[in-house]
Amino acid sequence: MDRGRLQFPVSSSRQSVSSSEFSVLNGNDIKLKNGKIANVTFLNKNDNTKELLTFINSMIAEQVHIIYDKKFTIEEERKWKKKRLELQKKKCGIELVARINGNIVGTTTAQKGKYKERGNVVLGIAISKEFRGIGLGKELLSLNIQIVKKLFKPKNIYLSVFANNKPA
Ligand SMILES: CC(C)(COP(=O)(O)OP(=O)(O)OC[C@H]1O[C@@H](n2cnc3c(N)ncnc32)[C@H](O)[C@@H]1OP(=O)(O)O)[C@@H](O)C(=O)NCCC(=O)NCCS
Repeated sequence: MDRGRLQFPVSSSRQSVSSSEFSVLNGNDIKLKNGKIANVTFLNKNDNTKELLTFINSMIAEQVHIIYDKKFTIEEERKWKKKRLELQKKKCGIELVARINGNIVGTTTAQKGKYKERGNVVLGIAISKEFRGIGLGKELLSLNIQIVKKLFKPKNIYLSVFANNKPA
């Protein structure tokens, strides 16, 4: 686990759900408190690496409570995307991307644990500053949890959070 972080169980169940296809999600819309619609898709190879980079680097520049403290280069982001796509293909991880009017406004991730963490899934989430407080974080995380339950049937699902991150 990441040092200095707390792990909050957000769910503990072994629900049996029939579908194990990644197609459960694509095209999913979330209606937000301000009436705007966020469209959520799995990360896919056609997603623009530069746009993903701008999103994560804006979070890092803001110094929010995420694990990264140094901006990524385009090459690092390319590698990250390749890795996440591989994990998704192997059904070891999930990366969801939320867009409003075509622009990335949030992402959420899920990663299966290994070895003694086998059976556990750790989540992450980040929402653009301008789109916080309108229900996107909560809905996006709920969607991730639903998908994780369907695809991975985990024993436990955790959100890894810095202790002083009040919103999270
Ligand atoms: C944490 C984060 C994902 C929340 O996303 P969000 O879209 O703003 O959250 P929502 O609007 O869906 O609100 C969810 C709940 O949190 C509460 N909340 C949101 N911001 C809050 C704040 N600053 N202080 C206290 N509560 C807050 C809301 O009231 C809501 O509670 P409710 O359902 O009981 O009404 C977002 O602030 C973020 O991306 N922060 C930066 C990155 C980060 O910290 N990621 C988490 C790492 S684990």
